[in-house]
Amino acid sequence: MFKRIDHIGIAVEDLEAGIALWSERLGLALAHRERVESQGVEAALLDVGENHVELLAPLHEDTPVGKFLARRGPGLHHIAYQVDDIDATLAQLSEEGVTLLDQRPRVGIRGSRVAFLDPRGLERVLVEVVQPAEH
Ligand code: CO
Repeated sequence: MFKRIDHIGIAVEDLEAGIALWSERLGLALAHRERVESQGVEAALLDVGENHVELLAPLHEDTPVGKFLARRGPGLHHIAYQVDDIDATLAQLSEEGVTLLDQRPRVGIRGSRVAFLDPRGLERVLVEVVQPAEH
């Protein structure tokens, strides 16, 4: 079902400071930057081989990442698994009794299709399922 880890999401207060830390100090190449309205974030993708670290800064306090920061501060936010067919994966996960936060995929970073799973049934780990855009 899951092909590989697509990215690790990290919540940051300040995207510029996050990029300075992860790119300039830790040496990960900045690959992409985008305002993702559907998730209420300004995001940056940094390359780690074929995988990525995704830095997420909230556009407003009243967004999922804004609330996360207020509650827990910056840090690990989610793990994203890559799939070939997100519709089939969500149907299969539902059948397995996994609770979906998104019943249908929405548009994610770089034109991908994404959906989040309820962390309450997953050891409190927020999981994102990602189907990359066709190239
Ligand atoms: Co993500």
